[in-house]
Amino acid sequence: MSVTKPPLESVLISESCLQNRIYELGRQIFTDYENQELVLLGVLRGSVLFFADLARAIFKAQHESQTGEVALRFEFVQLMSYHDSTQPSTLQLIRGGSDYLKQRHILIVEDIIDTGRTLNFLYEHLETLNPKTVKVCTLLDKPAQRQVPVAIDYTGFEISDTFVVGYGLDYAQQYRNLPYIAVLGSI
Ligand code: IMP
Ligand code: MG
Repeated sequence: MSVTKPPLESVLISESCLQNRIYELGRQIFTDYENQELVLLGVLRGSVLFFADLARAIFKAQHESQTGEVALRFEFVQLMSYHDSTQPSTLQLIRGGSDYLKQRHILIVEDIIDTGRTLNFLYEHLETLNPKTVKVCTLLDKPAQRQVPVAIDYTGFEISDTFVVGYGLDYAQQYRNLPYIAVLGSI
């Protein structure tokens, strides 16, 4: 099957830069949740690489601190957005988190926050599950196109209004497995 694959324009965030920042986020999250149980809630599919590295960074921080621990659980949600030509896309949950989220500390792990609509939708869903706390960790924040105000607790990198791929993020399901973030060339 032939799929049009636009070329990459440039590397925006290198692999080492990503890993250094994720390690810092892991340390911060470990400190904030030390001696508590925390549910990392990954938003499929874009967050998977970030999720896996962040979970290991939290463990590394724990190993180095040699004091307390953060008991981590993994949960995942998946959303679909349907487009038609007249309406803004509507979001639908195709996989919700389990009952386990009730009365737990939840940290949403996202790849990128753009308009904020996905995160806002997810918040509303999580409220119905009555969690103890909900915070947000995103690898990338693209504030230029924000339509819905959202509170972000942990941000890897703020980027300008450009379409990026790699490290979980895709263009038409392509480029997810790049170990770095790149700017997509013209489509
Ligand atoms: P929001 O609801 O507009 O905040 O959109 C968030 C979702 O849009 C992300 O989870 C991505 O799936 C997608 N998205 C937004 N910007 C980009 C980008 O630059 N590259 C790849 N996906 C993106
Ligand atoms: Mg996402």
